[in-house]
Amino acid sequence: MIIFYYILSSFSIILYLYSFFPVNKNFAQKHELPSTLQDINFDLKEVYASNVDKIIVIVIDALRYDFITRDNTPNLLKLLETDGCLSLVKVESPTVTLPRIKALTTGSVPQFIDVVLNLLNTESATDSIIHQAVRYGKKIVFYGDDTWLKLYPNIFLRSEGTTSFYVYDYTEVDDNVTRNVWDELSRNDWDIMILHYLGLDHIGHITGPFSPLVKPKLQEMDEIVKKSTI
Ligand SMILES: *[C@@H]1O[C@H](CO)[C@@H](O)[C@H](O)[C@H]1NC(C)=O
Repeated sequence: MIIFYYILSSFSIILYLYSFFPVNKNFAQKHELPSTLQDINFDLKEVYASNVDKIIVIVIDALRYDFITRDNTPNLLKLLETDGCLSLVKVESPTVTLPRIKALTTGSVPQFIDVVLNLLNTESATDSIIHQAVRYGKKIVFYGDDTWLKLYPNIFLRSEGTTSFYVYDYTEVDDNVTRNVWDELSRNDWDIMILHYLGLDHIGHITGPFSPLVKPKLQEMDEIVKKSTI
């Protein structure tokens, strides 16, 4: 009988580990873009042809849905009126930086193992919009949370990481991003600019979402949105 319990307990431990740290069924990094969907063939060049010259992706960490108001973010709302969409996203745990960036760039659901990897320097081997863009000759510049540089090392044309280590700093961490934005807007050698602002998240951590510090920070972010949409 005792041997039966041994087998049963080993089995349940293995089952637990397998579910908690699932084997990563990643896409290969050089995944081809599909040229057919069910029976329909389409011309890749036409479908994936770019409608714009430049793309700017701005990640504002900890931006709550209810922070988007006429008072806080007038320019963003104005932009939404003409060519935008505001959508509420339900975020699955774990909500630490690395798994979330992975989710944004790879479209995959983050796993608990990513929380462990969040603390280590790990390069993402999963296929992602970053890899695909570079593969198709797009030049990317990056400024903001240095987790991106750990996930995607040696992939950006230019970059500067900011550290989220000093949670009490919500000014310099964003100023270090913004000063690069002004430089980049006058340059013409890049196609995609990614920015990841941490200041709002840091304010949330120190003083909570109803702090008087939130509004000026949102207005600062809103000004950047305005200047980036030329
Ligand atoms: C901002 O940039 C300065 C100068 O490069 C650097 O010394 C500082 O550590 C940076 N701050 C953060 C929070 O990344």
